[in-house]
Parts: sequence; structure tokens; C-alpha cells
Amino acid sequence: MIRNAWYALGFSSELATGALQGHRIAGRPLVAWRTEPGEVVALDARCAHKRFPLWEGRLLDGDRLECAYHGFCYDRTGRCIAIPALSDRSQRVPETARQTAFPVKEQDGVVWLWAGGDRAPDHDPPPTPEIAAEGWETRVTEPMEVAASYRLLIENLFDLTHFYPLHNGNIGSLADAQVPVEIQRDLSGPVPVLRTIRRRREFTLPPMTRDRFGLEVADQVQVHEMVAPSLFRVRVAVAPPGRLGTGTEQSFVLHQTITPVAADRHVWRRATSCQAGSRWAADPSRSLVDAIVEGAPTVIEQDRWAIERQQEMFAFPDEGYREVHIKTDGAVVMARRILDDMEAAEAATLDASLQSPSQTRMQQNRRAADVR
Ligand code: FES
Ligand SMILES: [Fe+2]
Repeated sequence: MIRNAWYALGFSSELATGALQGHRIAGRPLVAWRTEPGEVVALDARCAHKRFPLWEGRLLDGDRLECAYHGFCYDRTGRCIAIPALSDRSQRVPETARQTAFPVKEQDGVVWLWAGGDRAPDHDPPPTPEIAAEGWETRVTEPMEVAASYRLLIENLFDLTHFYPLHNGNIGSLADAQVPVEIQRDLSGPVPVLRTIRRRREFTLPPMTRDRFGLEVADQVQVHEMVAPSLFRVRVAVAPPGRLGTGTEQSFVLHQTITPVAADRHVWRRATSCQAGSRWAADPSRSLVDAIVEGAPTVIEQDRWAIERQQEMFAFPDEGYREVHIKTDGAVVMARRILDDMEAAEAATLDASLQSPSQTRMQQNRRAADVR
């Protein structure tokens, strides 16, 4: 798992004012709430007194959090400001009674949390402009906890060869599995981005896509993009042959936030956006975005079923087992490398910061001895 990352705590609509929420993100227990002025606060959920989970507590005046066990009371910065058992005014609240407050940033309809510690990085969370922009209609799903590593979802989203047989009969077809894939890796930004592009020309659309856009044969471009490690964006655009990029193009955008809970569990959220006013071709009385969202649960359950079953197989020791990769696994292999590199870079920083100067000196002496 990677901790030095912005992870979705929720879509903005999930965080109501004055309601405490418990979260587990990248192995950290967190308590979060939206204050009266609208800011979202996220603190370490282990009460500094006796580790009692603060999500069991209550908010006083919407702004201060009281632990349900002995009543330590924290402000929005995580500082303990009152302890009921200290009746004598000469007894002060200890300075160490303080919860770590994690940086939170609300942007484009998503509340992001920096899981790396109490200091925000110098880069913002990834943009998700269509979710909140005027001119787009968006529907978000309830957060879904999946009993599998976040990596298996990323791999699933890059790999369309599973459309047959896993999604056969709904969004899937064998032809989808055989479309050539262009892969782009972009390391120029604050976090690595990996992108696959599938272009189809004069493609006979599968029934679900035909019903969405009202075209039998179309040009289609489909871009899948991991903004490592916590966002996966999909854009699908179709148009009559030769008309992509013109006014007749129709599209939808799917933002999927992927928040690890633990090594073998994550939370998956989806926001589907279509240009405002887009109608479903099969029944123009309905909006396109509603039709797409209504058709999604079967496919989502198939993917969830697949990656949860896949995760169960990791309980068995490898004992010589090795995966076989074929040409179409290129993006999956590249995504793994990117995430491995991020994990290794973080582990190296952590190792360095955990070593006391004397430990480092001892290791250096030992290494010097080895050389001799
Ligand atoms: S454990 Fe929270 S006040 Fe005691
Ligand atoms: Fe799938």
C-alpha cells in the first residue's frame, strides 16, 4: 500500500455537516466530519487517552469532538481542549493530548485526504472537472467496499480482454477484447499517469452502446487513465464514421476513485458524467447519464466477483506458481511497475526516517566490516 497519496474520502455529497464518519484508509483509522463553515476535518480516530475509536463519539456545536469513553474533547485541529475528569483548574490538559489531523482538500466534487501524515504535499489532488462543472450531468454511486487489493481493480480496469467471457452478453464482446491498445506513460506531473487508448473505426457497436448513442456503426475512441494510485478515469467518445472531434461526437466520462482500506481491501466509488441535456437514444424521454448508470450494477458486480475470487487465491503460497502474461497484458504489467516503484520509494524514505543516527552508524560500520 502507498500512504503518500491523495485518496478519496468521499464525494462531496457524502459528507453532510455535523455527522461523524469512520474511515480506514491505507491502514489508518480516521474520523471525519464537515464543520458548520463547510470545511472537512479528518483526525486519527484513536483517542489519545486510551485509543477508543473517536467515530463512536459525538460532536458538540458541530465543531468539537467528544470521545464517548471518558469525554476528552478535541477541536478541529485535533488539539484536546477539555478533559471532564480534570475538575481542578490547576490541572492542565497535557500538551500531548492531540490527534494527528490529516490534510483534506475538496476539489471538483471530491473530498481528498492526504494519507501520508499531517503535512500536505506540494501538489493538489488529481482534477476531476466533469464531476462538478456546469454543462455536465453527473451521478455518483454509493461507496462500495471490495474484499480485494486496490491493485486488482486497477488491473481489471486496464484490461478489456476480460469483456469476453466475464461481461459477455452485456457490455462485452470478443471484438472488444481484440482491439489494438496504444499505451502512454506520462511521468511529467506530480504523480505517474498511465493511459491506454483504443481506437475503433467503422465499428459495429454492441447492443448497449448502440442503444446509448443511436448508432449502428461508429468510430469510437476509448481512453483509460490511471492517475496513480487513487484515480482511474475512463472516457468513451463515439461519432458517425469520420466525425470524431466534431459536433456530432457523443461521450461520457467515468471517474473511479480507488481508496485502499488495507492490503486486501479497498473502497471503489464511481461518478458518471455526460454532457448536460444528452438523451438516451433508445428512449429520448430519459437522460443518457441515468441510462448508463442503471445499466452498470450487473457489470460492477461481475468485476467485483472476479477480483474478490482472484484475491482469495493470494492466500496460497506461490510455491513455484508464476503468472503467464500475454501481449494484451502490457498496460497491466506497466501499472504494476509504476505502483511497485511508488511503494519502494515510500518504503525507502520510511526506512531512512526510522533509523536513528546511531543505527545508521552501526550499519555503516557493519558494511565497512563486510567490505574488509
Ligand atoms: S479513550 Fe477517549 S477519553 Fe478515554
Ligand atoms: Fe469489467
